[in-house]
Amino acid sequence: MSESTSIAPPELVGSPTAFPVAVGRLFGVSLGPGDPGLITRRAWALLERPNTVWTYPVRSLRKESYALDIALRAGLALPARHQPLLFPMTHDVEKLARHWLKAAETVQALLATGVDVLFLVEGDASTYASFCYLARVLRELDANALIDIVPGVTSFNAACAQLQMPLSEQDDTIAIVPAAYGIAAVEKMLDDFDTLVLMKVKPLLDDLINLLERRGLLPHSRFIEKAGSPVERIVYDVAELKGTTVNYLSLLLVKNPDRVRGEMQRGCRKKTSTEIEEETQQ
Ligand SMILES: C[S@@+](CC[C@H](N)C(=O)[O-])C[C@H]1O[C@@H](n2cnc3c(N)ncnc32)[C@H](O)[C@@H]1O
Repeated sequence: MSESTSIAPPELVGSPTAFPVAVGRLFGVSLGPGDPGLITRRAWALLERPNTVWTYPVRSLRKESYALDIALRAGLALPARHQPLLFPMTHDVEKLARHWLKAAETVQALLATGVDVLFLVEGDASTYASFCYLARVLRELDANALIDIVPGVTSFNAACAQLQMPLSEQDDTIAIVPAAYGIAAVEKMLDDFDTLVLMKVKPLLDDLINLLERRGLLPHSRFIEKAGSPVERIVYDVAELKGTTVNYLSLLLVKNPDRVRGEMQRGCRKKTSTEIEEETQQ
């Protein structure tokens, strides 16, 4: 297989006359949202590579890592060197900055020994993922840090597939929104978007259900929890969830079929005035 990432040698740094020092590369390895069948071939090749260190996010050191669980359920062997990195669930900016720095320093120390570090990501590494913070802080520590991202299937793409619900058709607009923006903001978006993907719905679920009820959108809403995992839960009648507690790994897909659309330009892109002028001169 032509896997450039699986055969890349460690980078050498330092002047050619000095003893070169091998440094490792950090990979954000997307694993998809839960079904090991959604791990890409590129991610798989990296995870099978010997002499790498696996790192993975945990919300507390007593908690299991959902990302690691996906890799283990895939039948991949946990390497001898592996390490959880703590990314707590908090809005305390200072606390977050402290933990991101600690995680980045841990990775930096590993990379300095010449090993490649794989950071396991649930879903896609560029989509609301701890990997974004890790990569950013590592770059702040070392502007020359070697970082690669293996893209993956997001939770909402997998959710649409499970629900057999198109994310978008033809001219549809889509908004992917953390529900924490609040009910007023979500309601405003209903007027502009044909599909709303509401992420991180847990704390606001009841209020969201009330909004969907009021707007007559319950029949066009679906809930999914731990999409793709063995404990996946799909709820078609979202109103059933009122007053219940759901898992953090859950989202709502909302379609607004009655959205009033603005005027649309059909066909090819609008011609510039120069192009129109050139045409009339021919
Ligand atoms: C920190 S974000 C991670 C997003 C992830 N990187 C992705 O690509 O989808 C966490 C939020 O994503 C959504 N999510 C992640 N995994 C999910 C899953 N397996 N099933 C349903 N929702 C999921 C939930 O809304 C959750 O609150």
